[in-house]
Amino acid sequence: MAQPILRRQPFKGLYLTYFVVSVVFVRIPLWFIWFLPKRNRPRASWPLSRCIRVRTYQVLTGIAPKIGLQASHPVPKSDEELTNASLVWIDGLAEDSDVFCGRIRKAAEITGVKPARVPAYWFFRPGISPTKEVKARSGERTVLQIHGGAFHLGSAHPDVATSNITHGLVAHCKNIERILAVDYRLSATHPDPPANPIPAALLDCLAAYRYLVVEAGFEPQNIAVAGDSAGGNLAFALVRHLVENTIPSLPPPGRLIGFSSWLDLSFSRRSPEDSFMRNAASDIFANGPGARFGEYAVPAYLGPLNPEEAKTNRYLSPSSPHITPVEGMYKGFPKTFISAGDAEIILDDSTVAAERLKADGVDVTVDIVPDAVHDFMVFTWHEPERTEALRRVCSWLDSD
Ligand SMILES: *[C@@H]1O[C@H](CO)[C@@H](O)[C@H](O)[C@H]1NC(C)=O
Ligand SMILES: *[C@@H]1O[C@H](CO)[C@@H](O)[C@H](O)[C@H]1NC(C)=O
Repeated sequence: MAQPILRRQPFKGLYLTYFVVSVVFVRIPLWFIWFLPKRNRPRASWPLSRCIRVRTYQVLTGIAPKIGLQASHPVPKSDEELTNASLVWIDGLAEDSDVFCGRIRKAAEITGVKPARVPAYWFFRPGISPTKEVKARSGERTVLQIHGGAFHLGSAHPDVATSNITHGLVAHCKNIERILAVDYRLSATHPDPPANPIPAALLDCLAAYRYLVVEAGFEPQNIAVAGDSAGGNLAFALVRHLVENTIPSLPPPGRLIGFSSWLDLSFSRRSPEDSFMRNAASDIFANGPGARFGEYAVPAYLGPLNPEEAKTNRYLSPSSPHITPVEGMYKGFPKTFISAGDAEIILDDSTVAAERLKADGVDVTVDIVPDAVHDFMVFTWHEPERTEALRRVCSWLDSD
């Protein structure tokens, strides 16, 4: 398959050079002047540096699909390469495993996806020596963290930016000494060779959850399944799988956390008052004509599934307005923490999920952070909001 010109060298290199030079020497100085008066800032509370950072992300996310930006990381050969972390391999589920059932198995039959062995990382709290001892102590609590990256980017490797939430959680939670972050398979689509559609990532997250319960011996009620952005989508789908299919060997976790979760892959809410339109200028994504958020990610994740499923399948888009009825769709869910920024375009995904969870009687804690962008917990420059939000979610995780 021919690659678009900007994905081929030397054009990609030339374009990137032009891009960096124009951003650093032309656009940033212009933005600096433009954002000096507070009335031009997307949010009056933002410092000038944040306005410029957010604009930079907007242009970066605009060119990423054109040049085929990759942000993955090679798996280390030994733990020596890691700081305060250790590598484990998660075996793929057996083909006849009782947990490989329900909608996940149906999707696998359509898309041809098989279970696979994937890496995962234990992140240890600074001060705790990384150990190879897998077994949980009696009553030990942990988190299964599922990173973001629109299903096709990012890694659970501790050196990659998508791990900044994992680092933040393990540093701030008092009752948690280690967190498992799973390096699930990433999807791809045209113009790349198609790879790993649904349920590849979900099967890997399911295998990681099974590893925590069956191999490491954590009690399900002591596990929180967490994810940010597309990882939040996977966290919701994983918990839904465990709630909807009563699997004797694998009960659902005690808690669910969504950070800036992406819960409507169809982007169906597009009226001026919806967050998708209202927050277009205040989020990190490319906006304006030609910017089509998710135009790579959604077909990559859906693969050969019918694209209509992005509207109606509760495993893909539990916050979609096209799902009916909504009553009962969260019945049996564990207590849930919903975190999102009030400046993000997919804020509605989180607020709708919170409403639907509450309507079904689930114990929900909602933390909408004023003037915070999508996935602000990843950005160490998004202070003080990031640390304050980490403290709140950790005090929730530490509580009974
Ligand atoms: C690793 O842990 C040490 C303390 O044990 C801490 O000083 C250091 O900041 C930690 N490094 C990272 C990357 O978390
Ligand atoms: C992630 O955290 C590291 C270490 O604190 C920091 O250097 C890096 O800039 C962070 N990444 C982002 C995107 O903020």
